[in-house]
Amino acid sequence: MQILIIGKTGQLGKSIQEVAANVLYSKHGFTFVGRDEIDFSNNVNISTYFECNSFDVIVNCAAYTQVDRAEEQQELANQINHLAVGQLADIAQQSNTKLIHISTDYVFDGNATNSYIELDVPNPINAYAKTKLLGEQAVQNAMSSNALIVRSSWIYSQYGNNFVDTMLRLAQGRDELKIVSDQISTPTYAADLAITILHIINSKDFIKDFTTTTYHYSNIGQCSWYEFVKAIFAICKIKLNIVPITTDEYPTPAKRPLYTVLSKSKIITTFRITIPSWQSSLKTCLKARGCGKKWIK
Ligand SMILES: NC(=O)c1ccc[n+]([C@@H]2O[C@H](COP(=O)([O-])OP(=O)(O)OC[C@H]3O[C@@H](n4cnc5c(N)ncnc54)[C@H](OP(=O)(O)O)[C@@H]3O)[C@@H](O)[C@H]2O)c1
Repeated sequence: MQILIIGKTGQLGKSIQEVAANVLYSKHGFTFVGRDEIDFSNNVNISTYFECNSFDVIVNCAAYTQVDRAEEQQELANQINHLAVGQLADIAQQSNTKLIHISTDYVFDGNATNSYIELDVPNPINAYAKTKLLGEQAVQNAMSSNALIVRSSWIYSQYGNNFVDTMLRLAQGRDELKIVSDQISTPTYAADLAITILHIINSKDFIKDFTTTTYHYSNIGQCSWYEFVKAIFAICKIKLNIVPITTDEYPTPAKRPLYTVLSKSKIITTFRITIPSWQSSLKTCLKARGCGKKWIK
């Protein structure tokens, strides 16, 4: 199959690029594009690209992901996360192309006490999440079949600009860090999600037509940001006083949902996958970036 991955410069796009090099996927042809090839802020640019290129599968990893900035850049976030995604889904529908679109746990309001299943009703509480939900709905409206929406949470990787990276940077030259302890979800190692996406594409049922479906994917387990940071620093042997604080003590432009643990039962059963715990994947990721040696303080 000819597979297009959009968002090649992002965490998930880069992780898919790494996983796609595995011999398991050598029967497929992969094309990785960034905003230079397809700019989601420009609908003419999107149409022009697909006038000259066609694929069997599109995986959309591109998004406006700056949660706080989205509050003041709502129009741009809406164009990238909603309108461009709708346009992409229309193109996929017209060209008989399968679409895998990535969404977020933040579509939920966080008031649940049990893990969210795919049938739970979304109720986004910030601008980023509202645009992501509109993107999901645009996919569902354009494609009653052959689209998968995969919601994930707290994605990190060895590729820059994510929470783990920020924490390791902040740890330099400080004795203490205050970290929010009342927001609970599950960290997701981008490489694990990348493996799952390519496993789905490789599965025999993916070749057939299927009803458009939403799946949840994160690593197994749950934690607060505070517990996540404690684990990062323990693995990297960084000695630092970490002080738990509440969301109210750390005001941000965008409201964050308090509890967004995703139930993975549906994706595990459907695609017969095993998902690593967040702790073991965190170790894998930190080892890949040389933690424990480089980061000892
Ligand atoms: N990060 C998380 O914690 C998290 C949690 C749950 C769900 N998700 C979802 O998971 C997916 C992947 O996230 P990620 O962490 O890999 O994101 P990321 O690292 O922030 O990467 C976002 C990608 O989108 C591209 N992009 C942004 N604006 C664009 C535009 N106008 N045109 C074309 N491409 C554009 C970026 O390109 P440039 O490099 O050129 O900007 C980059 O390749 C997204 O759908 C996100 O909403 C993320």
